[in-house]
Amino acid sequence: MKPRVLSGMRPTGKLHLGHLHGALENWRNLQNKYDCFYFVADWHALTTDYSDPSGIKESTFEMLADWLACGVDPSKATIFVQSHIKEHAELALLLAMITPLSWLERVPTYKEMKEELRDKDLATYGFLGYPLLQTADITVYKANYVPVGEDQVPHLELGREIVRRFNYLYGETFPEPQPLLTKVPKILGTDGKKMSKSYGNAIYLSDPPSEITEKIMKMYTDPKRLRRTDPGDPDVCGIFYLHKFHSSEENVFMVNRECRTAGIGCVDCKKLLLPSLIKELAPIREKREELIRKKHELEEIIREGDKKAREVARETLEEVREKLGLN
Ligand code: TRP
Ligand code: SF4
Repeated sequence: MKPRVLSGMRPTGKLHLGHLHGALENWRNLQNKYDCFYFVADWHALTTDYSDPSGIKESTFEMLADWLACGVDPSKATIFVQSHIKEHAELALLLAMITPLSWLERVPTYKEMKEELRDKDLATYGFLGYPLLQTADITVYKANYVPVGEDQVPHLELGREIVRRFNYLYGETFPEPQPLLTKVPKILGTDGKKMSKSYGNAIYLSDPPSEITEKIMKMYTDPKRLRRTDPGDPDVCGIFYLHKFHSSEENVFMVNRECRTAGIGCVDCKKLLLPSLIKELAPIREKREELIRKKHELEEIIREGDKKAREVARETLEEVREKLGLN
């Protein structure tokens, strides 16, 4: 039996290059080696967007289309929607009984995000419970590994503590989920900050060639390289990071050398990147468009995935209820 991997993403809209290189390529590799469960974390989206949930459904389909277009394969991985599997909620309720408030309050992302998203009122029970619900997502499938970025490690740490407490109180039930730390590559947006939908600096998997071209030609490069004759530093340049993913080894090598000596200018460097970037994104864009048009196919994939996920989740909850005297 293959070890189980579980990961989710909040449906916040169309995905961009940061998602492709930061998560989806990894998901695509993992599905060949592990028993992978990938899900749309729509309840988690509500923890921050409860005041306007109107976009969640549309975002769910957009995101699923992006996943599949990038090679996440429903014949290899179980793909489903969190809110369709009510067992997540039941387990979250039961785990809440044994989770001290202080454990939740000390998760570093809790205070940070509350500060960062100050325009939203996040003094809610649901937002505090974000990592607890995440723990239920993981344990309801008895997942062994969770591919996460550095920022999500504290959530998993908390999850492991809750698992240990559960196993101690009621007997060995859940494996302690381990992080599969993926080196999150640096993907910068057009303004030189981290690529993110909320910064409005993203290149989307749905962008047509004209838009990709426009965004790349306007994109920030090494901020210290003001004139064509100034030598640049590719290690601080978002264009160079994209070369590393989309250009041939020779071109990456050449850019790395010629940028430092002002042998190549930023405009030339961008023009060198564009054809391969556009060529690689074209089939993804076409595939996602086709999937969006054939929504019933997406719905069918989800129905299948839900069924498989539900079976596992039901079994876990039966065991849990019995251990808690609730059967
Ligand atoms: N918190 C994750 C995010 O940043 C989404 C998520 C919810 C998740 N439940 C999970 C990830 C369980 C891994 C495992 O969007
Ligand atoms: Fe970036 Fe290329 Fe300009 Fe160097 S030459 S700063 S790598 S865009």
